[in-house]
Amino acid sequence: MYFLLFCILGTGAWESALTNTLSPGDRIVSFLIGQFSLLWIDQQQRLKFNVDVVESEWGQGANLDVLAEKLAADRTHTIKAICIVHNETATGVTNNLATVRKLLDHYGHPALLLVDGVSSICALDFRMDEWGVDVALTGSQKALSLPTGIGIVCASPKALEATKTAKSVRVFFDWNDYLKFYKLGTFWPYTPSIQLLYGLRAALDLIFEEGLDNIIERHSRLGKATRLAVEAWGLKNCTQKEEWFSDTVTAVLVPPYIDSSEIVKRGWKRYNLSLGLGLNKVAGKVFRIGHLGNLNELQLLGCLAGVEMILKDVGYPVKLGSGVAAASAYLQNNIPMIPSRI
Ligand SMILES: Cc1ncc(COP(=O)(O)O)c(C=O)c1O
Repeated sequence: MYFLLFCILGTGAWESALTNTLSPGDRIVSFLIGQFSLLWIDQQQRLKFNVDVVESEWGQGANLDVLAEKLAADRTHTIKAICIVHNETATGVTNNLATVRKLLDHYGHPALLLVDGVSSICALDFRMDEWGVDVALTGSQKALSLPTGIGIVCASPKALEATKTAKSVRVFFDWNDYLKFYKLGTFWPYTPSIQLLYGLRAALDLIFEEGLDNIIERHSRLGKATRLAVEAWGLKNCTQKEEWFSDTVTAVLVPPYIDSSEIVKRGWKRYNLSLGLGLNKVAGKVFRIGHLGNLNELQLLGCLAGVEMILKDVGYPVKLGSGVAAASAYLQNNIPMIPSRI
């Protein structure tokens, strides 16, 4: 059985996951693969955990060979938690959580598995039970398609047990306060953002109506169609290998003579299109196309057409319609009938 708790935003959900299950000085293994994993690691260090940072080049996934080495060497179980961002939103990289679980089981290692699912949960295949995830967290503003404002944290019985010995200072995020109120049937220890909870109810209705499996398949089509368009434009995906391709966000590398921030600005100012900036190490080098949440294939084609016009505006030699043609040829062969309308 798992428990659901709410807090404020993804960053708050990170803090809630860490402080409720760990004590200052605890050794954790954390993977640095992009801006959001970097920010989580910064938080882990500021909360005084002893973090083994496993760094990969941006555009690559978590280095699980290093994890295997660390687990094999850790016979006395000094590692208390593995922290991993399932989908790195800054680079469009999806990590393989099934392999993380396999490694933990292979070495019989009891470390908690804490997962940031902010840009994956309700869009990508995410199996809390099967992968033995101890804390999974997300934010309202991503695949749930709500405004920003709530972080959702799901804790396993093992994670709840860990709260009994975790010595990190926690006040606003203390799970015990939530659990006390759950028992009383009032569910929230503070004034809840009730409008967002009504929104969450409506978002879940949409998710149940479409079906989670169908949602995951839709995101797989959106991801594939976007990648085909990028290829047709003659541009490269920031994600270096197919095994890490993300179906919720694609970071597109631009040639060195173009500043990718100009693409994002142009999209906003001329076409009313929101693209994502390149962050930190990849600032100016990539722009990001988000394709998650309540978005259908035709909406994506509109976005791809917009990107083509912007690319032409900034001096990249793109043939208008080339990416849209590649994406729509694939989509026309792969979009299923809408079950309720057959
Ligand atoms: C993967 C990931 N984790 C965490 C965060 C931080 O969430 P928030 O900005 O809601 O605090 C984000 C934000 O985009 C994210 O993409």
